[in-house]
Parts: sequence; structure tokens; C-alpha cells
Amino acid sequence: MKQTIDVETKFMESLLEFNYGVDVTSRLKQLAKKISWAKGWPEKKTSFWNAEAFMWDHKINKEKRELVRSELSFLSNNRSIKIQGTKERKNLDLGCGSYSYLPSVGFDISEKMLSFNENCRKKIQGDIEQPLPFKDEEFPSVTAVFVLNYVQNISSLLSEIYRVLKIDGYFVAVLSSKKLNDWQRQKEINSFQAKKWANITREAGFKLKFYEKENLLFLKCRKC
Ligand SMILES: C[S@@+](CC[C@H](N)C(=O)[O-])C[C@H]1O[C@@H](n2cnc3c(N)ncnc32)[C@H](O)[C@@H]1O
Repeated sequence: MKQTIDVETKFMESLLEFNYGVDVTSRLKQLAKKISWAKGWPEKKTSFWNAEAFMWDHKINKEKRELVRSELSFLSNNRSIKIQGTKERKNLDLGCGSYSYLPSVGFDISEKMLSFNENCRKKIQGDIEQPLPFKDEEFPSVTAVFVLNYVQNISSLLSEIYRVLKIDGYFVAVLSSKKLNDWQRQKEINSFQAKKWANITREAGFKLKFYEKENLLFLKCRKC
């Protein structure tokens, strides 16, 4: 037990150095082999995001967080959207990471990300590349912030989102419209232009409005 803690501490210290630009990749890889949640870092997706979790909150600046929160606020305002049969606002936040912008059911592949998320009333570890473990029309809203660019089978995910949304419900996706840094980009699978994202979303059956603000792309999609 003590040995595991020592290895984890060394891994965390090295990760900090790594984030300050020191090349300690091979030391990190060696240490990761001895830690269950980091094994396979950085190639293995889950381990990569588990390690990112420790500093994730600081990797996106406050102004960006504030902009996303204000763009999503209409989802928690009962007067601005009316959805039949919905007493409580229950948002599903896909790829929620360590930070959800509104109280949500959080869904993420990384157990470490989930453990740091304080805005999720319920946390579920799972893969958005697989069918979602939710009932049809379970949620009045679904969000995916800085996530769709990491998904291989985007059409399957969008039809799953459509399935779990209530009629008149909203799906809001937020993406960076600027190139990501190299480290994050290594996990990126697609980086389409705004119009392509909009077309893919329409093909899944959504009516949508999309716009860019401060290098962020917002897709506000409605299931009619
Ligand atoms: C760039 S972070 C965004 C986190 C959060 N939404 C935010 O705005 O800070 C991407 C998140 O997606 C999660 N993720 C990546 N691929 C996933 C997958 N296939 N299934 C579920 N979650 C995934 C990662 O674990 C990570 O928490």
C-alpha cells in the first residue's frame, strides 16, 4: 500500500514537471506501469484523461468557463424552455470531465475526472463510443463540452443523444474553433469546420442554431 502511494506521489510530481515543460516522459511511462489508473499512459485513452484530471480545472481559463456557463444557462432556466412532462431539470453532461457547467448527471470515461467533479449529482463511468446506458427520452437536456472532437463514431453518438432526449429537449455541444495544443490534439479524432459539424448534427435529426464566439463554436440542437 505504502509503495503504491509512493509511486503515485512520484508520478504526480513528474506530471507537474511535465506540465511545466520538462521532458520527463520516459520516467512517467515507467511509473505509470505500476499505477492501475495510469497504466498505458499516455497512449491509453482512459489513463491519459485520468492524468489530465489532476490539473484539468486550470487548463481552461476562467473567461472561457464563464462564457460557456452563460451560453448554457438557458438550460437550467425553467421559464426559457418548456418541455412536456418535466418537473425537474436533469441535464446529462457527456464527457463532463472534472467540471460541469450546470448540475448534471455526469458521464465520463475517466474515473479520476469524475472524482473531481463537484457539480454532478450522479456520476457514471462509461464510454460515449458505446450505446448510452439510459432510457429513451430520459433527459430534457444533454451537453457535451470540448468532447465531440475526441469521438470516432460521431453519427452513432448523435443518434444515441437523440434517443435519450425528451421531445423538445436540447443538446448543446461546445467545441474549440481554434487548433488545440499538441498535447491535447494527440487524442483528437476529428476537427471539422463549423458547417460540417452543423450538417452532421442535422443529419441526426436535430434542428439547430450554430455560432462562434471568442474562438468557441456553439451548436444548440433541438429535438422537435
Ligand atoms: C477536453 S475534456 C472536457 C471536460 C469537460 N467537459 C470540460 O469542459 O472541462 C474531455 C473529456 O472527455 C472525456 N472523454 C474522452 N473520450 C471519452 C469517451 N470515449 N467516453 C467518455 N468520456 C470521454 C475525457 O475523459 C475528458 O474528461
